[in-house]
Amino acid sequence: MKKEKIFPQHIAIIMDGNGRWARKRRLPRIMGHRRGTEVAFKIVQFSVKLGIKILTLYAFSTENWKRPKEEVDFLMGLLEDYLAKHRGMFQKQNIRFQVIGNWEVLPFGIKNRLREVIEATKNNTGMVLNIALNYGGRMEIIDAVKKIVGEVRNGRIAPEEINEGLFTNFLYTRGLPDPDLLIRTAGELRVSNFLLWQISYTEFYFTKKLWPDFTPKDLQRAIRVFQKRERRFGGIKRDYEGSL
Ligand code: IPE
Ligand code: IPE
Ligand code: MG
Repeated sequence: MKKEKIFPQHIAIIMDGNGRWARKRRLPRIMGHRRGTEVAFKIVQFSVKLGIKILTLYAFSTENWKRPKEEVDFLMGLLEDYLAKHRGMFQKQNIRFQVIGNWEVLPFGIKNRLREVIEATKNNTGMVLNIALNYGGRMEIIDAVKKIVGEVRNGRIAPEEINEGLFTNFLYTRGLPDPDLLIRTAGELRVSNFLLWQISYTEFYFTKKLWPDFTPKDLQRAIRVFQKRERRFGGIKRDYEGSL
């Protein structure tokens, strides 16, 4: 039986390698980030064109605060500019912009800008663009536990009611399906605290390409590889059914 080609609904990307891209060119790291932001813009637009339902981009992790203050400040500034520059595009392309992560603690300017764009695009019905900002998978799980404990304390949830479905509703990604495909650029074979709960059955695609060199063609390649995978979710190969 020929397998029908299933298109990934939700793609998550760990955009890694900006620093190495710059170093290879003897440029300051921030130039890599600048270029990386332009690539993110292109990939967002291409994803809309492909009809992807949800795109989740890892932009800043809870561990990235360990970087020099100048680099962190530059990254925040870049994001602020990106939002100012592209809010019109979000509307035009019917994109719903969301943030996952603890973004309430970010600098005032960027927080306001984020709130503005989230509010302005909340009724859009096209692709959901999730930006992971000050995001950590472990922190997300701890936050969910704290919220659930609060609900149990005030009697709104009985402990017996806690199951996977309920837990999922307390994550930053509530309401969204898990990623079908996780892409990581720049050759590192790890998840770096990204979407720990949500990737339990996600297909992984790693490429050595550095994020600033990543192109729409590379995205298509990743999708093609995904389409050749057989997802079994713990079950058995379909061809084997009936031959027990
Ligand atoms: C990814 O590129 C961007 C962020 C983490 C914000 P890096 O800055 O991690 O680039 P490398 O890994 O040093 O090359
Ligand atoms: C992961 O990349 C975070 C983002 C892409 C935002 P890092 O560069 O921070 O990950 P490690 O340190 O190599 O694991
Ligand atoms: Mg990196």
